[in-house]
Amino acid sequence: MIIAIDGPAGAGKGTLARRLADYYHLPHLDTGLTYRAVAHMLLMKGWPLGDEPHAVEAARLVDLGHLDRAVLSAHAVGEAASKVAVIPEVRKILVEKQRAFAAQPSGAVLDGRDIGTVVCPDADVKLYVTASAEVRARRRLAEIEANGGAADFAGILADIRRRDERDTGRADSPLKPAADAHLLDTSEMDIEAAFLAAKAIVDDAVAGGNKT
Ligand code: C5P
Repeated sequence: MIIAIDGPAGAGKGTLARRLADYYHLPHLDTGLTYRAVAHMLLMKGWPLGDEPHAVEAARLVDLGHLDRAVLSAHAVGEAASKVAVIPEVRKILVEKQRAFAAQPSGAVLDGRDIGTVVCPDADVKLYVTASAEVRARRRLAEIEANGGAADFAGILADIRRRDERDTGRADSPLKPAADAHLLDTSEMDIEAAFLAAKAIVDDAVAGGNKT
């Protein structure tokens, strides 16, 4: 079974993907980390984010077995990732690696921006997870504060809106729901409610698939 989860930054798709992967005993790939890994390599070397040849070289070096979430989850790396993610050749290389992950016999859960539309168009279940920009900014702020950091709401909201624009507006694989995706708006849900709603959708899809 392949579960494809897409949605904008901060909608809760990462947590949801991990919960679903645990529940269905499937391996999970957060594809955002692959774009973050490319951005992180460029930042570490001091290369500009628009430097295509170096970005392509960095994409080739991405190893799915060695994605360090602790390092890659930094806010600045996410911003930078959305800049390298507009480079078609970078996307081509990373998508190939993501498809290889999805092709393992057990199936997999993948989350990102273009899983249902580009990476796994034949996924058994597609979820498009959203929440209003304000709710996402509030959650991000709470997360930063819980980790002992400080930030201001207006700044985070502006960042989220900018990232949404970049992700939905790019020419190659823009963020959008696949035609056959199930929409899940988590604005009014906590993570438990979102998980139960997602699980119901997956169980339904699997039961439907078995009938035909
Ligand atoms: O999901 P996350 O915030 O880690 O993703 C960082 C950036 O990587 C996104 O803003 C997006 O530009 C890019 N990305 C993408 N396609 C994916 C996953 C992430 O373009 N499948």
